[in-house]
Amino acid sequence: MSAKKKQTLREITPKDLTAEQAEKELDALAKEITEHDRHYHLNDAPVITDADYDKLQRRNIEIETLFPLLVRTDSPSKKVGGEIKSGFNKVKHSRPMLSLGNVFSNDELQDFIDGVRRFLKELKDDAKAPLEMVAEPKIDGVSISLRYESGVLVQAATRGDGVEGEDVTTNAKTINDIPQKIDGAPDVLEVRGEVYMTKSDFAELNKTQEKTGGKIFANPRNAAAGSLRQLDSAITKERPLSFFAYAWGDVSSMPWDTQWGYLEHLKKWGFKVNPLAKLCPDIAALLANYDKIGHQRATLPYDIDGVVYKINRLDWQERLGFVARSPRWAVAHKFPAEKAETILNKITVQVGRTGVLTPVAELEPITVGGVVVSRATLHNADYITELDIREGDRVTIQRAGDVIPQVVEVIKDKNHGSRKKYNFPEKCPECAAHAVREKGEAATRCTGGLTCPAQAGERLKHFVSRDAFDIEGFGTKHIKSFFADGLIKSPADIFHLKPADLNGREGWKEKSITNLMAAINERRQIEMPRFVYALGINQVGQATARLLSKTYTSFASLRKAMEGAQTIGSDAMEELLSIDGIGKSMADDIIEFFKEPHNQKVLDELLKNITVTDFVAPDTSSSKVAGKTVVFTGTLETMTRPEAKASAEALGARVSGSVSKKTDYVVAGLAAGSKEKRARELGVMVLSEEEWHNLVGGK
Ligand code: IVH
Repeated sequence: MSAKKKQTLREITPKDLTAEQAEKELDALAKEITEHDRHYHLNDAPVITDADYDKLQRRNIEIETLFPLLVRTDSPSKKVGGEIKSGFNKVKHSRPMLSLGNVFSNDELQDFIDGVRRFLKELKDDAKAPLEMVAEPKIDGVSISLRYESGVLVQAATRGDGVEGEDVTTNAKTINDIPQKIDGAPDVLEVRGEVYMTKSDFAELNKTQEKTGGKIFANPRNAAAGSLRQLDSAITKERPLSFFAYAWGDVSSMPWDTQWGYLEHLKKWGFKVNPLAKLCPDIAALLANYDKIGHQRATLPYDIDGVVYKINRLDWQERLGFVARSPRWAVAHKFPAEKAETILNKITVQVGRTGVLTPVAELEPITVGGVVVSRATLHNADYITELDIREGDRVTIQRAGDVIPQVVEVIKDKNHGSRKKYNFPEKCPECAAHAVREKGEAATRCTGGLTCPAQAGERLKHFVSRDAFDIEGFGTKHIKSFFADGLIKSPADIFHLKPADLNGREGWKEKSITNLMAAINERRQIEMPRFVYALGINQVGQATARLLSKTYTSFASLRKAMEGAQTIGSDAMEELLSIDGIGKSMADDIIEFFKEPHNQKVLDELLKNITVTDFVAPDTSSSKVAGKTVVFTGTLETMTRPEAKASAEALGARVSGSVSKKTDYVVAGLAAGSKEKRARELGVMVLSEEEWHNLVGGK
């Protein structure tokens, strides 16, 4: 086509654009689409039709496909629901970045301390032995790991899923509180801490954003996260980010032997350490400090959501180790949730992945702790009955940290009695199948199984979620639309997708199709814990998925064992139940999952298309007990039972509570009884505590 004189850029077919025109047009499209996104997402008021909006998006992608070098970092094709999609390189953490367990009351804190005392022999035997803790305010920001080599900042990574984060080095370098060079530090030092935004900087930023039509953030934490994760570091540089240091990752040497000593080093190296950090000799001091900080909370310049306690001595921290993803040597003491009153307009019911019907309160929007809340959970039918919650009631809602807001109280005004009592539905609102409540269960479930679109859809969403298959560029939005169109009915269908299936679909062009195919192919090989978690077995979260992977090491043997475990009293069932962390109810759900013919079909189909890699235990090659099953019994003299278990597991052994033919060693302490006897009957090797230490080369 020959370009007529008066033709506007917008009227030129993409393939007829010159590079210069294309660049201009991409710029214009980015601006226009962002503006429409803003109308749609922030103002809830679109100004063009969906079809016209799609036309702009399609034109943008077409031009990008023709001029790949001109793709902008802020291109609309990189955004999902208004957010910029990740374009950062992934970084595997040299030491995982863990999360913390929570306590909400003095009693729970006492339980935590008691647990530590029971674990460490010298504290267990001497109730008066001091246990010093460092108390630090828990900053509500985003954690980050900064790697220094020979004193130079070489890498900054976000926490991500704890194992793998995003490389944000360029952005971190724009933050004033983060030194780019440090003196006198170990050769390799990873400093971990919190990137945050002060309350006043946050208010200021939102004001500017409003003026310039930028994204409005719900709270300082989101603002900090959003600012740190900018693909264009020039934007991060303009954002007022701050940083407190409090932990470490990889280190080549450790010239400190307490947490307090580490904080001193941090200050010397030029890091900001929270000035409210305090060394506390006992629980009374922790509680007094907690109250004091609680009172200061509202006037502090930054948001905090609790106080973190860490055992001061590092040798004790090391022995205490970790459970699942949190340390046994630290805990977060959270502040009470924030509450607010509003009107409950309507009760709706949501159907989850496992068919559970969850009632949801649709609220008159209200700000709670800086976040606008318009929905809150009502848990289950009993909860509604107990509180006598009715549509139209005035209610108190509560929000704690990231937890889903909940309705905690009904304000019984004079009209409450005249409102209609709420009747829980007897049919699934999504598929109309019967909704039943098993005896002794709180949940009401839809009986539609995978014929219920809500259940099938939710399962698929879980399957591709971040901690499961995590297929790049394949989010909830796509699952929903592919599922609705029948393109994907079950997980294996994802791996059958062909470019031809997507050709001609709205919003999909050659480039995005190629990218999706590549992302799917990358996931044809997946680690066992992720795979087990992705299956969405009732009650099986990431920790249990890992536990199962560790125990059975390959998916094939897990599956075989679960088939065997269907027989009550079988060795396989005994073995499953002997796993510490798996109780009867969870075992039932796992066995049930593998028994169900539909699930078997799904697994067979999936395994034709993907490879599940065997679980690789941490390097225990020098350990003599790796892979062995050990039972500890009787009173141990040199260590407590939890410590014995944890140290054996760290050496790659499996610790079981009961003796069977499969047991390799029974370590018998004082007054060992029936277990030692059974071991001798079965010919299992019985070791004294000393012999055990000799075997593993410790103590
Ligand atoms: S220590 C293994 N100290 O809380 C211990 N965390 O729930 C790891 N946080 O991801 C964390 N202030 O983002 C620690 N003084 C502090 C903290 C702190 C805030 C955050 C951090 C972490 C989360 C854990």
